[in-house]
Amino acid sequence: MPQATLIDGKAVAAELRDEIAAEIAAIKAASGRVPGLHVVLVGEDPASRVYVASKEKLAAAAGMNSVAHRLPAETSEADLLAKLAELNADDAVDGILVQLPLPKHIDSGRIIDAIDPAKDVDGLHPINAGKLAAGKNGLVPCTPLGSMLLLKRVLPSLSGLEAVVIGRSELVGRPAAQLLLQADCTVTIAHSRTKDLPAVVRRADIVIAAVGRPHFVKGAWIKPGATVIDVGINRLPDGKLVGDVDFTEAVAVAGAITPVPGGVGPMTIACLLRNTLTAFKARRA
Ligand code: GUN
Repeated sequence: MPQATLIDGKAVAAELRDEIAAEIAAIKAASGRVPGLHVVLVGEDPASRVYVASKEKLAAAAGMNSVAHRLPAETSEADLLAKLAELNADDAVDGILVQLPLPKHIDSGRIIDAIDPAKDVDGLHPINAGKLAAGKNGLVPCTPLGSMLLLKRVLPSLSGLEAVVIGRSELVGRPAAQLLLQADCTVTIAHSRTKDLPAVVRRADIVIAAVGRPHFVKGAWIKPGATVIDVGINRLPDGKLVGDVDFTEAVAVAGAITPVPGGVGPMTIACLLRNTLTAFKARRA
């Protein structure tokens, strides 16, 4: 059985964080300033707590001023908006990320709209989403950005390739499709209403799986030699973390594939740090 090349997101992310840390050290030596990243967590969701702790730790390790604001689950929408107004107004804050999902009594759209687009290091504000759709420079969501950096490691040119994105979320599917389009791919966005998904996926030179369902994409759907980026992080009842792709099947068919864990996941945080450095430089330019 041929075996796909494994795309080592953990190693690529570590390299990217080292580059960011070196740039921050140089900026600090020259100006005495460092980028400030503020992550806001509302409530006690266990997965979110782990992600936020990891973001906080890695931002500090890169030399940033890293602050996590942990607010109780019963925080009102008005209080969260007030916190964001405070962070928007604070010149020492370069990046703001509100960890999702938010408790049900808070309208996440209203929260994202309230973040200063220049500090929106998640790239979720409609201004940044609009810039991405228009092909203009803005802050780009971290997971799609990380997925593109991994793709470019194995595919020097994406031009003319067939890309199928499975999932149409604002956080991943839609922005990933925009980035692939910018890279001159022919892009299809598949979703829960797509007819004959296996046939659609079989066309793809590049598959981006972002559905949030364990082992959803089967090996038999994948065109031999295709590059597979698995964005899913699903916890099985036995505690094991698996992606949206049936890895055991797919690794025998694909040309290259990201593992879970150790694929896209580490790239998301590395790209958050990159976006924070980008926002810092743009705000101080
Ligand atoms: N929850 C899961 N992934 C993300 C992300 O990339 N950003 C935010 N804000 N929340 C998330």
